[in-house]
Amino acid sequence: MTHPAPADPSSPDGPLLSVRGVDVGYRTGRRTQLTAVHEATFDLYPGQSMALVGESGCGKTTLGLGLLRLLPRTGTVSAGNILFRRKSGDVVDLRGLAEQDLRRFRWNEAAMVFQGAMNAFNPVLRIEEHFLDTFRAHESRTRRRDLLERSAELLAMVRLDPARVLPSYPHELSGGMRQRALIALALALRPQLLILDEPTTALDVLTQRSVVEQLTELRERLRFAMVFITHDLGLAAELADRVGTMYAGRLIETGTTRDIFHRSRHPYTSALISSVPPVVGELAVPEPLTGGPPGIDALPPGCSFAPRCPRVIDGCTTTRPELRLLHARDEGLSHAAACLRSDDTELSTEGATRD
Ligand SMILES: Nc1ncnc2c1ncn2[C@@H]1O[C@H](COP(=O)(O)OP(=O)(O)OP(=O)(O)O)[C@@H](O)[C@H]1O
Ligand SMILES: [Mg+2]
Repeated sequence: MTHPAPADPSSPDGPLLSVRGVDVGYRTGRRTQLTAVHEATFDLYPGQSMALVGESGCGKTTLGLGLLRLLPRTGTVSAGNILFRRKSGDVVDLRGLAEQDLRRFRWNEAAMVFQGAMNAFNPVLRIEEHFLDTFRAHESRTRRRDLLERSAELLAMVRLDPARVLPSYPHELSGGMRQRALIALALALRPQLLILDEPTTALDVLTQRSVVEQLTELRERLRFAMVFITHDLGLAAELADRVGTMYAGRLIETGTTRDIFHRSRHPYTSALISSVPPVVGELAVPEPLTGGPPGIDALPPGCSFAPRCPRVIDGCTTTRPELRLLHARDEGLSHAAACLRSDDTELSTEGATRD
């Protein structure tokens, strides 16, 4: 295996989250199990943000859910380790954590915000009850009045008026307000990690912008680490320190946002970047990505991207390339790609986005 060298999560300078060779599968019949995520490997350091990008069906949501063990009943993390350094300094493998410990872990140490906040709220409970329930599951003795005060502070942090929002039912708020309330709720117990799955996709452009600005502000203030799942490469460039590209269930490139956008070493990442108009800079004509990714039940031998790859060579259709470290740097600044040709000249995407 030539995975990036494992960092030591138990060291105080080590990663907050160290994902090693994680497979996630879904049971689709009595005897059939489909692997939707293969050998996911990456580190996330405290306070760092990572965007997961890739076309629809590549396994981004599955990986996000798997990390916090929030998969539907048919889903399981079937291989690997998900090492997480708790606030206490202890390192746990989330894959092996019992359900009871997981409940204590979620919200407190890590929380997830899904697309479409409506479904995340119970429609018959006022927003204040959601906050009270979340607090009470973890600290049963604090007075209601104190908890409401803390809820109000959290809502104020995402620029919502607590007097209006706390007594409201979810359907009485706009989509943008609900999404912001959900982010405030997710941060209620000061988790070290927030996973957001397309949190702005359902919102109009202006609302999207204000949610993004508030997320940036909140991160500066509370310093949580973030995994941000998005289709929007512009957002990834803006919000993320690191980017992981997924293709057909595999992380095929990971690197700093700068490396990914300016020095991509995987033809799929380059194609993805070239398929959208540049975020800023010269106006280049986007080159559409033709075809689609293979189904997870029909992966071709060798590299899954080979049938669409403009740089394909004979070996690509027979040998599946491992995620290989290209530059080892400290603190999660490494660059890795799973391409037989990643040592060839860099694939230039210069000018595709801002620095
Ligand atoms: N509950 C499930 N049962 C079986 N297969 C599933 C289930 N959920 C997802 N899958 C399959 O797993 C693969 C990865 O899906 P996933 O939703 O993780 O992709 P994604 O990258 O989040 O896509 P999108 O960008 O559309 O949200 C897909 O092939 C999908 O069909
Ligand atoms: Mg998804």
